[in-house]
Amino acid sequence: PPNGFLRPEGSPLTVIAHRGASAAAPENTLVAQEIARKGGADWIENDVQPSKDGIPFVLHDGTVDRTTDGTGNIRDLTAAQIKALDAGSWFAPQYAGERVPTLAEQLADLRTRGGNLLLEIKGRHTKDEVAKIVQVIRDQQMTGRVFVQSFEVDALRYTYELAPELPLGLLRSSLDADPVAIARELHLTAYNPDGNALLAKPEIVAPLHAAGVAVMAWTMDSASLWQRLERIGVDGVITNRPSELVGWNSAF
Ligand code: G3P
Ligand code: CA
Repeated sequence: PPNGFLRPEGSPLTVIAHRGASAAAPENTLVAQEIARKGGADWIENDVQPSKDGIPFVLHDGTVDRTTDGTGNIRDLTAAQIKALDAGSWFAPQYAGERVPTLAEQLADLRTRGGNLLLEIKGRHTKDEVAKIVQVIRDQQMTGRVFVQSFEVDALRYTYELAPELPLGLLRSSLDADPVAIARELHLTAYNPDGNALLAKPEIVAPLHAAGVAVMAWTMDSASLWQRLERIGVDGVITNRPSELVGWNSAF
């Protein structure tokens, strides 16, 4: 099928809110998601990892130390222990009482209030752990509004085996010699490189587009960078400042 994530020439960049509106509110919380939605972001980006008892939670780091009032590896904490943590006070007092959302809670919020999710499977996952993520997406009836991305090739392979209907993006810190080949091998809808690596080698965009693969760059927060990405034909931009990118798009 044609790739709906490809940006027609002259149309605005797709705005993807990195961990929600994470410059304005505590990352990966429902309030960061709400601010991003109100600011006009097209997609919310998150990071998903399981609790000790196998519940997919929305958290970036391998530990809860930086973004909550607790300590420890997320994989060593039960869902009940994670739910008891304050995920807002570290950012600003006004966000005291924010919780680490489960993936199910985040998707339910998007389903009822509107919005799409760029779901990052963070770190290595077993096939059973990926199956749990797929089950949550299906239970929440959000298959048509979720895009899965990961640095982990195995996680993308498992997702394709379990749910070939979900669009897939490969995150890369440095560029592959032949991005089209890996896109074909992994059934990618998007190739999602570090934005600075991409700006150093913009000639990879055209062959990806010719192969029907979109390009989404991360994590770019200034108008000068957005302009350079727009000029080289990037489709979507993952940013900590989604409402500013929405404004830049409309002035463009
Ligand atoms: O969406 C891409 C970006 O989020 C990858 O880096 O560390 O923020 O998950 P990180
Ligand atoms: Ca991420």
